[in-house]
Amino acid sequence: MAIISTAGLARTFPSKAGPVEAVRGIDLTVRAGEILGFLGPNGAGKTTTLRMLTTLLPPTGGAATVAGHDLVRDPAAVRRACGYVAQSGGVDPNISVREELVTQGRLYRLGKAQAALRAGELAADLGLCDLLDRKTSTLSGGQRRRLDIAMGLMHRPAVLFLDEPTTGLDPGSRTDLWDLVRRIRADHGTTVFLTTHYLDEADALADRLVIVDKGVIVAEGTPTDLKTQYAGGPDASLQDAFLAITGRSAAPQESTPVAV
Ligand SMILES: Nc1ncnc2c1ncn2[C@@H]1O[C@H](COP(=O)(O)OP(=O)(O)OP(=O)(O)O)[C@@H](O)[C@H]1O
Ligand SMILES: [Mg+2]
Repeated sequence: MAIISTAGLARTFPSKAGPVEAVRGIDLTVRAGEILGFLGPNGAGKTTTLRMLTTLLPPTGGAATVAGHDLVRDPAAVRRACGYVAQSGGVDPNISVREELVTQGRLYRLGKAQAALRAGELAADLGLCDLLDRKTSTLSGGQRRRLDIAMGLMHRPAVLFLDEPTTGLDPGSRTDLWDLVRRIRADHGTTVFLTTHYLDEADALADRLVIVDKGVIVAEGTPTDLKTQYAGGPDASLQDAFLAITGRSAAPQESTPVAV
């Protein structure tokens, strides 16, 4: 069953220098329970696509449904079906982890007691129990990312959108996050739509990859399919396949590793 379906989805931004065609017509189907890796070079249109699919940004062309609801006709139902962890979260540094989770739950119309209960459940599940009363400004990068994911899960969404969830994390924290994503899918059947610049991550985690460049899909398939088709065989590196597809390397900009 398709949980996400798009046809010609597009977004053009007006700008002084002329219109920017960030997304130029995306036709995409995602199956329920799939972990989809949405890859592409900087500026390819990944975040813009995620923002459209989560109703944060209206499309300027095409159509899409998420969990059976039309993006434009029923945005409230789409929002209920989606959890979104943004590329960089804007949060109030002065509130505690618990307050942030409860506030998020309340935004999704959970009652106070229900939100507090859910915050406790997710804290236990995501290893945040000892941090519930800490100010969010004191969290490490890995802890912050786990809190971001907990926030995205407060209302038990059918689809979780993760925009570069592991950027800036140390290798151990990254693989912990992979395990977490796998567990969320295994336990709840959650569909996961994620972007990353780490191709080892895409290879290890995603059932299927969609590669975008300049606002359109340029390749799709399982990691093995893409390696076989573009880099000579199933044992080739995804990095080589990505380079053959986009003409560019996906090596992420190095950032300072942070501890969990
Ligand atoms: N609000 C905006 N106004 C004008 N142009 C925008 C706006 N938002 C995004 N763009 C442009 O749209 C294009 C796609 O941006 P987007 O953020 O979707 O890329 P991305 O694939 O997520 O890249 P990255 O890997 O760097 O996160 C870029 O050229 C970007 O500059
Ligand atoms: Mg982005």
